[in-house]
Amino acid sequence: MRAPMRPHLALLALMAAAFAGACFDLTRAAAAAGGTSTYVRPEPRPAVFIHDSNDEDSASPQQVHVSLVGQDRMRISWITKGSAPPTVDFGKSPGAYQSSVTGNTTSYKYLLYKSGEIHEAVIGPLEPNTVYFYRCSSNSAREFNFKTPPAQLPIKFVVIGDLGQTGWTKTTLEHIGQSDYDVLLLPGDLSYADFIQPWWDSYGRLVEPLASQRPWMVTQGNHEIEKIPIIHPRSFTAYNARWRMPFEESGSDSNLYYSFDIAGVHIIMLGSYTDFDQNSAQYKWLQADLGKVDRTRTPWIVVLIHAPWYNSNTAHQGEKESVEMKATMEGLLYQARVDVVFAGHVHAYERFTRVYNESANDCSPVHVTIGDGGNREGLAERYNDPAPPISLFREASFGHGRLEVVNSTHALWTWHRNDDDQNVVGDSAWWTSLSSNPACKV
Ligand SMILES: [Fe+2]
Repeated sequence: MRAPMRPHLALLALMAAAFAGACFDLTRAAAAAGGTSTYVRPEPRPAVFIHDSNDEDSASPQQVHVSLVGQDRMRISWITKGSAPPTVDFGKSPGAYQSSVTGNTTSYKYLLYKSGEIHEAVIGPLEPNTVYFYRCSSNSAREFNFKTPPAQLPIKFVVIGDLGQTGWTKTTLEHIGQSDYDVLLLPGDLSYADFIQPWWDSYGRLVEPLASQRPWMVTQGNHEIEKIPIIHPRSFTAYNARWRMPFEESGSDSNLYYSFDIAGVHIIMLGSYTDFDQNSAQYKWLQADLGKVDRTRTPWIVVLIHAPWYNSNTAHQGEKESVEMKATMEGLLYQARVDVVFAGHVHAYERFTRVYNESANDCSPVHVTIGDGGNREGLAERYNDPAPPISLFREASFGHGRLEVVNSTHALWTWHRNDDDQNVVGDSAWWTSLSSNPACKV
């Protein structure tokens, strides 16, 4: 049930609509253009607010999620309404916690809202491919467990953007929960809280069953900015406080862009909504990061951005985060032989061929838009017609993607459509790593 909205929240909601307008699709068409199935596309489902459970005391951990830190550690993040120790106890059997780590606690204010206590602790070293049981704030009432990813290929990723928290999001999460994945990658637009901070708490509760069990690695979208001139001039306040990623470990000075290695894959999370020009810290960091990649250790390179650089949907054409970021950074990714670029922002699915500078190119990344997680703004149903030759598959349906990197040369990509509430594979492709293609040697 949606939370009742108090007057000041209603005012903020109006402001949210004004400021977040960049992501609204006002062009919903009766019939989808460019889709590849006869499936009749559904209307958006309303947002669903997940409340505190009534029996929770103020020290009860909630909104638990985990993320990778380096090769063998995990950051545990959780929130309590009141004071509680930032301690994680963990071990390989339920209820038997051989180790304990005490981390730190923060909180933030946003207009009239004050967050709960936001705790985090980094635990490890951990063994690969192993289930660990853990409790937060020494609270035995709630035991969680996660599985660490494998140290070597194969590895399975879920990729999903623009998730939101609607009935469709719930369906997408159910489908993701049915897959035996290792790491989730999210290219921006998480909660769609849009300035109304209790929705960040609701989102934390919604994703907890999955995000407490597998590492969720995210980057930011426009809905994370939440900057209001004069009233709240700082950007990314809630996002940075709640979804801290391992940026220091990759030499980044910002939670808005970072990289990490996992099981033979170097993953780069870029920030579409922070500086990316050639003099920016992000550009220099990316250049240095790509220069350090060892393709014998990580034969695959995967990049996530929010605003797509290639897009044949009518939504979000010509935005500077797409056009200028591409003009600045595409050459770096091409020279480094990045294998695939995932984006969100456009609420639909689209898969391109390997493309560089608008043309098909066998040594450049595949581009995929996967902004169809289920957010409240609905689908982006209009496409430029005809489809450009570089666009191989496009469809405006909710869903999610899975990337199974099988070995150093081959990976299987599948897109799973929410066909009503059924999980149906709508598109698939085998990709070959560029590091294994002698014609693409640099
Ligand atoms: Fe977006």
